[in-house]
Amino acid sequence: MNQMPPSGLGGSHQSFTRPPGAPRLPRIARGEGVWLFDTDGNRYLDASSGPVASNLGHGHPRILAAMAAQARHAVFAYPSQFESAANIEFSDRLARLAGPGLDRAWVVSGGSEAVESAIKFLRQHAVVTGQGSRWKVIGRQPGYHGNTLGALAISGDDHAHEVFGPLLQAVPRVPAPLSYRLPPNHTVETYAAACAAALEAAILREGPETVLAFILEPVGGLATGALVAPAAYYEEVRRICTRHGVALIYDEVMSGAGRTGRFLAADHWPTARPDVAVLAKGLSAGYAPMGAALFPAAMVDRVAAAGGFMHGFTYSAHVMNCAVGAAVLREVEEADLTGNAERMGCLLRARLDAIAANSPIIGEVRGLGLLLAMELVADRGSKAMIPLERVAPQRVGELALRHGLALYCRRTSRGAYGDWLMVSPPLTITAEEVSELSDRLAATLAEFVDELRADGVIA
Ligand SMILES: Cc1ncc(COP(=O)(O)O)c(C=O)c1O
Repeated sequence: MNQMPPSGLGGSHQSFTRPPGAPRLPRIARGEGVWLFDTDGNRYLDASSGPVASNLGHGHPRILAAMAAQARHAVFAYPSQFESAANIEFSDRLARLAGPGLDRAWVVSGGSEAVESAIKFLRQHAVVTGQGSRWKVIGRQPGYHGNTLGALAISGDDHAHEVFGPLLQAVPRVPAPLSYRLPPNHTVETYAAACAAALEAAILREGPETVLAFILEPVGGLATGALVAPAAYYEEVRRICTRHGVALIYDEVMSGAGRTGRFLAADHWPTARPDVAVLAKGLSAGYAPMGAALFPAAMVDRVAAAGGFMHGFTYSAHVMNCAVGAAVLREVEEADLTGNAERMGCLLRARLDAIAANSPIIGEVRGLGLLLAMELVADRGSKAMIPLERVAPQRVGELALRHGLALYCRRTSRGAYGDWLMVSPPLTITAEEVSELSDRLAATLAEFVDELRADGVIA
């Protein structure tokens, strides 16, 4: 069992996000494969790839070699002054892997920037094609698209909106087709159909000529705990968007780059392709800050002909980041990490299902490939939550560290939709490591159950 650092204020940086007296976090020393090592000599299996980012694990020799090689040539050159071979290779690979219709890559430094870029591009496209009345971006509740003001405005998180609401442009939101706790008289399928119908109702209510786009996470991230809808939902959403000239954006920041067992989660539903896709996280696998928005060539040509995209950042298409991204995509293809995500995802899913069957506090396991989540409950029959004041995800995360497991356990929307754990290890994980992860997770959950029983929280 790992020895954790003593409690205390986290110092100049941790004190922004952690309350006084919170336990200190372990201090990172190095990473190797799925393992992270702290400066006290403890090791942790990276069960969630950090925040679902480290898709290639840590210290990957081919990525480190690519970084060193690029550093000897050029690290930065401003994209309005110079092209770079790294950007060309990265964008070509990404567009090829993403498939037809997602032909052009706009490269930025993270998921929020990529979401902002997608919205601004679509807005400018609407303006130059005589559809200047379109500006509203409909999002889902709950849902998450980033923490910059534009991305937060279209995210469905009431807590964030309570605090930052005055700064955010209000846009309509429609319910996400949650699958665990359903409204009365609904099945998963009928509720998903109702959620799709709610999208069309919202478009009609707002006036279709005012609606620019609908954005969703095709496989959910932290906001919904790896929510996957029935295929009919995606197909209906696609039809509705086409009918009303509304662009369909898939936010694949977590689900893209191979994580769900396909390069894009969109590839699971070939008849419901998005108009625009946004990626980050696994795209550079944590080795560089990176994101990208993918658009159809015809749309980009139209905006270019009208003077070009009025947008950009100092670090757009950063040369070193692009070299890292290109190396990551090369590795994803050559090592068939997408296939490994599918194979190891099946194995991990079976292990998590077995843990759930024997644990009184796991209500559901869901997700696709290696983007999985476990719903935490106090009672599996009634689906009652563990009392909110226990902040169950955070507590499981603390216990997991003691069992040598790094889990992404942040509560979202103050627990209004439930509590869950993301189980999303690197795509490089082996069958033996899946076993080790599962054993450590089972031990962590058993300790939490003992704690809840001792306090009389569960029977
Ligand atoms: C689905 C989704 N979209 C957007 C973002 C924002 O990405 P970033 O934190 O890189 O800005 C995240 C981050 O967690 C995400 O999960």
